Amino acid sequence: MPSKIFVFDAYGTLFDVHAAIRRYSTGPDAERMSDIWRTKQLEYTWTLTLAGHYADFWELTGRALDFALACTPSIDKALRPKLLDAYFKLDAFPDARAVLRQLKERGHKTAILSNGSPAMLKGAVDGAGIGGDLDASLSVDVLRMYKPRPEVYALVTDRFKCAPADVTFVSSNRWDVMGAMSFGFRALWVNRGKMPEEYPDQAPLEAIGDLGGLASSFG
Ligand code: LAC
Repeated sequence: MPSKIFVFDAYGTLFDVHAAIRRYSTGPDAERMSDIWRTKQLEYTWTLTLAGHYADFWELTGRALDFALACTPSIDKALRPKLLDAYFKLDAFPDARAVLRQLKERGHKTAILSNGSPAMLKGAVDGAGIGGDLDASLSVDVLRMYKPRPEVYALVTDRFKCAPADVTFVSSNRWDVMGAMSFGFRALWVNRGKMPEEYPDQAPLEAIGDLGGLASSFG
Protein backbone atom coordinates (compact mmCIF):
# COMPACT_ATOMS: atom_id res chain seq x y z
CA MET A 1 0.00 0.00 0.00
CA PRO A 2 1.58 3.33 -1.01
CA SER A 3 2.26 5.82 1.75
CA LYS A 4 0.08 8.93 1.81
CA ILE A 5 0.56 12.32 3.47
CA PHE A 6 -2.11 13.42 5.96
CA VAL A 7 -1.86 16.98 7.29
CA PHE A 8 -4.05 18.27 10.10
CA ASP A 9 -5.04 21.72 11.19
CA ALA A 10 -4.41 22.08 14.93
CA TYR A 11 -6.87 24.37 16.70
CA GLY A 12 -10.46 23.17 16.41
CA THR A 13 -9.40 20.02 14.53
CA LEU A 14 -6.99 18.13 16.81
CA PHE A 15 -7.27 20.42 19.85
CA ASP A 16 -10.53 21.62 21.37
CA VAL A 17 -10.38 25.43 21.54
CA HIS A 18 -13.32 25.53 23.95
CA ALA A 19 -11.65 23.18 26.44
CA ALA A 20 -9.84 26.09 28.16
CA ILE A 21 -12.98 27.85 29.42
CA ARG A 22 -14.66 24.54 30.34
CA ARG A 23 -11.96 23.94 32.94
CA TYR A 24 -13.13 27.01 34.86
CA SER A 25 -16.63 28.04 33.86
CA THR A 26 -19.73 26.70 32.10
CA GLY A 27 -23.03 28.20 30.95
CA PRO A 28 -24.17 30.60 28.22
CA ASP A 29 -21.80 33.47 29.16
CA ALA A 30 -18.80 31.15 29.27
CA GLU A 31 -19.73 29.75 25.85
CA ARG A 32 -20.23 33.27 24.49
CA MET A 33 -16.86 34.39 25.86
CA SER A 34 -15.13 31.39 24.28
CA ASP A 35 -16.85 31.96 20.92
CA ILE A 36 -15.81 35.63 20.89
CA TRP A 37 -12.26 34.63 21.93
CA ARG A 38 -11.96 32.24 18.97
CA THR A 39 -13.68 34.55 16.47
CA LYS A 40 -11.46 37.52 17.35
CA GLN A 41 -8.30 35.39 17.38
CA LEU A 42 -8.99 34.34 13.77
CA GLU A 43 -10.14 37.81 12.70
CA TYR A 44 -6.81 39.25 13.86
CA THR A 45 -4.90 36.69 11.75
CA TRP A 46 -6.83 37.73 8.65
CA THR A 47 -6.73 41.49 9.21
CA LEU A 48 -3.03 41.58 10.05
CA THR A 49 -2.12 39.40 7.07
CA LEU A 50 -4.23 41.53 4.71
CA ALA A 51 -2.58 44.69 6.04
CA GLY A 52 0.91 43.18 5.71
CA HIS A 53 1.58 42.97 9.45
CA TYR A 54 2.34 40.06 11.77
CA ALA A 55 2.15 39.29 15.48
CA ASP A 56 2.46 35.67 16.50
CA PHE A 57 -0.56 33.52 17.34
CA TRP A 58 0.17 33.53 21.06
CA GLU A 59 0.11 37.32 21.11
CA LEU A 60 -3.15 37.35 19.11
CA THR A 61 -4.65 34.72 21.41
CA GLY A 62 -3.99 37.02 24.39
CA ARG A 63 -5.37 40.11 22.62
CA ALA A 64 -8.51 38.19 21.59
CA LEU A 65 -9.00 36.93 25.15
CA ASP A 66 -8.81 40.51 26.48
CA PHE A 67 -11.51 41.56 24.00
CA ALA A 68 -13.71 38.56 24.83
CA LEU A 69 -13.41 39.16 28.60
CA ALA A 70 -14.31 42.83 28.09
CA CYS A 71 -17.45 41.72 26.21
CA THR A 72 -18.58 39.35 28.98
CA PRO A 73 -18.39 41.11 32.37
CA SER A 74 -19.87 38.09 34.19
CA ILE A 75 -16.69 36.08 33.54
CA ASP A 76 -14.02 36.79 36.16
CA LYS A 77 -11.14 38.70 34.51
CA ALA A 78 -8.78 37.19 37.06
CA LEU A 79 -9.12 33.94 35.08
CA ARG A 80 -6.98 35.43 32.27
CA PRO A 81 -3.65 33.76 33.17
CA LYS A 82 -5.35 30.44 33.91
CA LEU A 83 -7.24 30.51 30.61
CA LEU A 84 -4.07 31.28 28.69
CA ASP A 85 -2.22 28.50 30.49
CA ALA A 86 -5.06 26.09 29.64
CA TYR A 87 -4.94 27.25 25.99
CA PHE A 88 -1.21 26.52 25.89
CA LYS A 89 -1.88 22.90 26.90
CA LEU A 90 -5.27 22.45 25.24
CA ASP A 91 -7.05 19.10 25.46
CA ALA A 92 -6.95 17.06 22.27
CA PHE A 93 -10.28 15.75 20.97
CA PRO A 94 -10.66 12.08 22.00
CA ASP A 95 -10.54 10.94 18.35
CA ALA A 96 -7.35 12.92 17.52
CA ARG A 97 -4.81 10.63 19.17
CA ALA A 98 -6.49 7.51 17.71
CA VAL A 99 -6.54 8.74 14.12
CA LEU A 100 -2.86 9.73 14.16
CA ARG A 101 -1.90 6.34 15.59
CA GLN A 102 -4.03 4.47 13.00
CA LEU A 103 -2.51 6.43 10.12
CA LYS A 104 1.03 5.75 11.36
CA GLU A 105 0.22 2.04 11.75
CA ARG A 106 -0.86 2.05 8.09
CA GLY A 107 2.53 3.52 7.15
CA HIS A 108 1.39 7.03 6.23
CA LYS A 109 3.08 10.37 6.91
CA THR A 110 1.30 12.70 9.34
CA ALA A 111 1.81 16.38 10.15
CA ILE A 112 0.26 19.47 11.66
CA LEU A 113 0.03 22.72 9.67
CA SER A 114 -1.08 25.51 11.95
CA ASN A 115 -1.28 29.20 12.64
CA GLY A 116 0.01 28.33 16.12
CA SER A 117 3.46 29.54 17.14
CA PRO A 118 6.11 26.81 17.44
CA ALA A 119 6.02 27.09 21.26
CA MET A 120 2.21 26.75 21.37
CA LEU A 121 2.26 23.75 19.05
CA LYS A 122 4.94 22.07 21.15
CA GLY A 123 2.93 22.75 24.32
CA ALA A 124 -0.25 21.25 22.84
CA VAL A 125 1.45 18.29 21.15
CA ASP A 126 3.47 17.41 24.27
CA GLY A 127 0.41 17.88 26.51
CA ALA A 128 -1.65 15.51 24.36
CA GLY A 129 1.24 13.05 24.01
CA ILE A 130 0.86 12.81 20.21
CA GLY A 131 4.39 13.83 19.16
CA GLY A 132 5.38 10.20 18.51
CA ASP A 133 2.70 9.90 15.83
CA LEU A 134 3.63 13.08 13.96
CA ASP A 135 6.34 13.39 11.29
CA ALA A 136 6.26 17.20 11.35
CA SER A 137 4.69 20.13 13.12
CA LEU A 138 4.69 23.09 10.71
CA SER A 139 3.99 26.64 11.89
CA VAL A 140 3.19 29.74 9.82
CA ASP A 141 5.65 31.61 12.04
CA VAL A 142 8.56 31.12 9.60
CA LEU A 143 6.54 33.04 6.99
CA ARG A 144 5.06 35.69 9.31
CA MET A 145 1.66 35.44 7.57
CA TYR A 146 -1.45 33.40 8.26
CA LYS A 147 -3.77 30.93 6.56
CA PRO A 148 -5.29 30.97 4.02
CA ARG A 149 -2.29 32.49 2.20
CA PRO A 150 -1.08 29.90 -0.35
CA GLU A 151 2.50 30.31 0.92
CA VAL A 152 1.36 28.65 4.16
CA TYR A 153 0.07 25.49 2.45
CA ALA A 154 3.31 25.38 0.43
CA LEU A 155 5.17 24.71 3.71
CA VAL A 156 3.78 21.17 3.41
CA THR A 157 4.85 20.53 -0.18
CA ASP A 158 8.29 21.99 0.63
CA ARG A 159 8.67 19.78 3.71
CA PHE A 160 7.55 16.53 2.07
CA LYS A 161 8.91 17.31 -1.43
CA CYS A 162 5.55 16.42 -2.91
CA ALA A 163 2.85 17.83 -5.18
CA PRO A 164 -0.25 19.46 -3.63
CA ALA A 165 -2.45 16.62 -4.93
CA ASP A 166 -0.39 14.14 -2.85
CA VAL A 167 -1.64 15.75 0.37
CA THR A 168 -4.87 14.97 2.23
CA PHE A 169 -5.52 18.01 4.41
CA VAL A 170 -7.93 17.76 7.34
CA SER A 171 -9.52 20.79 8.99
CA SER A 172 -12.63 21.65 10.96
CA ASN A 173 -12.36 25.24 9.76
CA ARG A 174 -14.31 25.54 6.51
CA TRP A 175 -12.33 28.61 5.43
CA ASP A 176 -9.09 26.62 5.93
CA VAL A 177 -10.48 23.82 3.75
CA MET A 178 -11.21 26.51 1.14
CA GLY A 179 -7.57 27.66 1.26
CA ALA A 180 -6.28 24.07 1.09
CA MET A 181 -8.50 23.12 -1.88
CA SER A 182 -7.52 26.34 -3.62
CA PHE A 183 -3.84 25.37 -3.19
CA GLY A 184 -4.53 21.96 -4.73
CA PHE A 185 -4.71 19.69 -1.66
CA ARG A 186 -7.37 17.02 -1.29
CA ALA A 187 -9.18 18.35 1.76
CA LEU A 188 -11.57 16.77 4.24
CA TRP A 189 -13.84 19.03 6.28
CA VAL A 190 -14.40 17.83 9.84
CA ASN A 191 -17.81 19.36 10.46
CA ARG A 192 -17.98 18.74 14.22
CA GLY A 193 -20.46 21.60 14.69
CA LYS A 194 -22.86 20.46 11.93
CA MET A 195 -22.46 23.82 10.22
CA PRO A 196 -24.05 24.58 6.84
CA GLU A 197 -21.94 24.27 3.71
CA GLU A 198 -20.23 27.41 2.37
CA TYR A 199 -17.49 28.34 -0.14
CA PRO A 200 -19.26 26.51 -3.01
CA ASP A 201 -16.34 27.06 -5.42
CA GLN A 202 -13.95 25.15 -3.12
CA ALA A 203 -15.96 22.16 -1.95
CA PRO A 204 -14.13 19.61 0.22
CA LEU A 205 -13.43 16.12 -1.05
CA GLU A 206 -15.82 15.02 1.67
CA ALA A 207 -17.35 16.36 4.89
CA ILE A 208 -16.97 14.05 7.90
CA GLY A 209 -18.56 14.39 11.33
CA ASP A 210 -15.42 13.60 13.34
CA LEU A 211 -12.01 11.95 12.92
CA GLY A 212 -13.31 8.49 13.89
CA GLY A 213 -13.57 6.74 10.51
CA LEU A 214 -10.90 8.75 8.68
CA ALA A 215 -8.10 6.17 8.71
CA SER A 216 -10.29 3.28 7.50
CA SER A 217 -12.05 5.37 4.82
CA PHE A 218 -9.13 7.35 3.46
CA GLY A 219 -5.94 5.73 4.81
C1 LAC B 1 -4.80 26.62 13.08
C2 LAC B 1 -6.02 27.46 13.27
C3 LAC B 1 -6.69 27.80 12.01
O1 LAC B 1 -4.49 25.73 13.88
O2 LAC B 1 -6.95 26.87 14.06
O3 LAC B 1 -4.11 26.89 12.09
